Amino acid sequence: MKIEDIMAVAPVIPVLVIEDAATARPLAEALVKGGLRVLEVTLRTAAAIEAIREMKKVPGAIVGAGTVVNTDQFEQVMQADAEFIVSPGLTERLGEAIVGSGVPFLPGTATAGDIMRGLDLGLRHFKFFPAETSGGLKALKALAAPFYEARFCPTGGITPATAPEWLAFDPVLCVGGSWVTPKGASMAEVEALARDAAGLAR
Ligand code: 3PG
Repeated sequence: MKIEDIMAVAPVIPVLVIEDAATARPLAEALVKGGLRVLEVTLRTAAAIEAIREMKKVPGAIVGAGTVVNTDQFEQVMQADAEFIVSPGLTERLGEAIVGSGVPFLPGTATAGDIMRGLDLGLRHFKFFPAETSGGLKALKALAAPFYEARFCPTGGITPATAPEWLAFDPVLCVGGSWVTPKGASMAEVEALARDAAGLAR
C-alpha cells in the first residue's frame, strides 16, 4: 500500500499509547469492528513494539508505528513489520532512511520549510502537527495554498467536534486523534467511538 491508500481507508487514524501489550489485540479488534482499520501505535511506551506485533494478528488491521523520531527506532519497528511510519517532524536523516526503504511514511510538518524538506525527498503526504496549536485549520489553509499538491493528516488537539471542519478541507485526507481510546474506556465504548469516527464525512 502507498501512504495515500492508507490515508484513504478511514477518516480517522487513532493515535494509540499502549501501556500493556496484553490489551493491544482486543483494542485493535474493537477499533477494526468499529470501522477504523488503520492504527498508529506510538513508540512512547515499552509495550509499543509488542503491541504492533499483537495488533497485526487482527484481520483487517493496518498497523503502523508513530512517534518514530530516529533511525534506530525505525529499524526496531521494521523488525515488528510495521506497515507505515508516522513521525512528529522531519529530519533529512530519518526521511532518507524511510523513503529509501519504500515503507509508507507520514512525516510531521508545521511550516513551509518542513513541507519543502519533504518535497525534496519526493514526499507529498504529510501529517500536520501539532495541528491546533500550530494555528489550526486557518494555518493549514494558508500553507496548503502554495503547496497545492500536498495532502495532509492533521493531528494534535483534534476532537469529534472539530474533525468535520478539518475533513471538509479538500487537501485533508484524514485526521489523527487519540479521542477514540480514552483512558479507562471499555472495548464496547472504544468500538462505539470508532464507529462514530469512521462515519465522519470527508
Ligand atoms: C499525538 O501524536 O500525540 C497526537 O497528536 C495525538 O494528539 P491528540 O491526543 O490531541 O489527539
